[in-house]
Amino acid sequence: MRVLAISGSLRNASYNTALLRALQEEAPEGVEIEIWGGLKSIPAYDTDDDTVPGPDTVEAFRELVREVDAVFFSTPEYNSSVPGALKNALDWASRPLATNSFRNKPVAVIGASAGAFGAVWAAAELRKVLGAMGSRVTEAELAVGHAMDKFDADGRLVDEDTRQGLRDALQTLVAEVPSALQAA
Ligand SMILES: Cc1cc2nc3c(=O)[nH]c(=O)nc-3n(C[C@H](O)[C@H](O)[C@H](O)COP(=O)(O)O)c2cc1C
Repeated sequence: MRVLAISGSLRNASYNTALLRALQEEAPEGVEIEIWGGLKSIPAYDTDDDTVPGPDTVEAFRELVREVDAVFFSTPEYNSSVPGALKNALDWASRPLATNSFRNKPVAVIGASAGAFGAVWAAAELRKVLGAMGSRVTEAELAVGHAMDKFDADGRLVDEDTRQGLRDALQTLVAEVPSALQAA
């Protein structure tokens, strides 16, 4: 089973991206986690550019989402909401709405922030956006607050409770993938 992992942060030392690397380590046999590196190459959404086909990077993103069995997001919170770059990529992916690549796609959303609350508002808003696009938003949840205390100097997740939270969130997501695919 292929799971696309999307971080809402572009910075190299991102805690959210580091969480997705830890998720790769925690993935059970048969579940392949692929971290998406294309977020920065998605242009600002403009309906005038939303032609058929659209920009190359956008078409590649849409196709990748179509190919995978599920998508796992880890997002920071910017001003109590979803970071603009991530929202922008989803706006592109959402068109045309009726046949968009996220429709019926099982998704999980977790978040990490430097503050105490672990990006809970951003995660809630991201679930709302994905729901509007027709994704199957799972009940997976993990809010990693005070993220700087959970990683070592090399950016490796050292907090066992958070690792357990990742395993639980991934299990919730995998359970939403139709069983024929789970066997694959
Ligand atoms: C523009 C901006 C806005 C932010 N707004 C919030 C916020 O509303 N709530 C919060 O908990 N942290 C906020 N932060 C702090 C982020 O949680 C922190 O930078 C976090 O490490 C970002 O995630 P990353 O490590 O994955 O890049 C903000 C950071 C930036 C750059």
